[in-house]
Amino acid sequence: MNIILLGPPGAGKGTQARLLVEGRGMVQLSTGDMLRAARKSGTEMGRRVAEVMDKGHLVTDEIVVGLIRERLLQGDLGGGVIFDGFPRTLRQADALEEMMAGEGMRLDHVIEMRVDDDEELVARVSGRSTCGACGEVYHDRTKPVPPDGHCVKCGGTSFTRRGDDNAESMRTRLFAYYKETAPLVGYYHVKRLLRSVDGLREMDAVSRDIGRVLEGQV
Ligand code: AP5
Ligand code: ZN
Repeated sequence: MNIILLGPPGAGKGTQARLLVEGRGMVQLSTGDMLRAARKSGTEMGRRVAEVMDKGHLVTDEIVVGLIRERLLQGDLGGGVIFDGFPRTLRQADALEEMMAGEGMRLDHVIEMRVDDDEELVARVSGRSTCGACGEVYHDRTKPVPPDGHCVKCGGTSFTRRGDDNAESMRTRLFAYYKETAPLVGYYHVKRLLRSVDGLREMDAVSRDIGRVLEGQV
């Protein structure tokens, strides 16, 4: 089964993708994670995109489509793919359709995680931190790092905050979402692939709702 998680910054795409990886052996393909890895390893491309990302703008279609193409060609996609944060523009969506067809893959569901509350989205990304060792995502309010300072998943003790998780970048990221990415809701609705879940519910409830979509119950 191959799915797309679609939603604004802070909707919980990464959180739900990790749960699906753990629970169903699916493979998470996050263009945000791929770009951050490129930055960390100091590649030429990583250096080029750093400022664009920190300001909250979209990276070019060519770069992100190239990253996804490279990963799909590697194969070994386990129990199916979760596209997290990709596609984000209509051109990316067309490119994905073409790439998947080329690899004999089918898209099963596009799950829109609806969070129509920009203040909640800002609050979610403002309180976010990530385990430097395993990538587990925390939130100061809703899922704090345990008082002993150890990651619940790997015991790691170093946690990072993202350069784009500030109010100014978040305004740009939200604007980019509504302008460039929200049209994909209609695009996939017409293709009869769109399913919507209420991303404002608490994490476990969202996870159950996504499970019901994958089981074909809704
Ligand atoms: P990317 O890394 O994709 O970030 P994003 O889309 O802005 O999404 P986030 O990672 O911020 O949020 P999320 O929905 O994953 O939420 P999370 O689960 O972490 O992209 C970053 C940048 O890279 C872009 O701005 C762009 O520059 C570039 N880029 C990436 N892909 C691109 C593409 N395809 N094209 C062009 N450019 C691209 O949750 C957030 C917080 O809320 C966490 O602390 C979590 O614990 C908490 N939380 C989660 N669920 C809930 C819940 N149900 N209730 C309460 N709190 C919750
Ligand atoms: Zn960890």
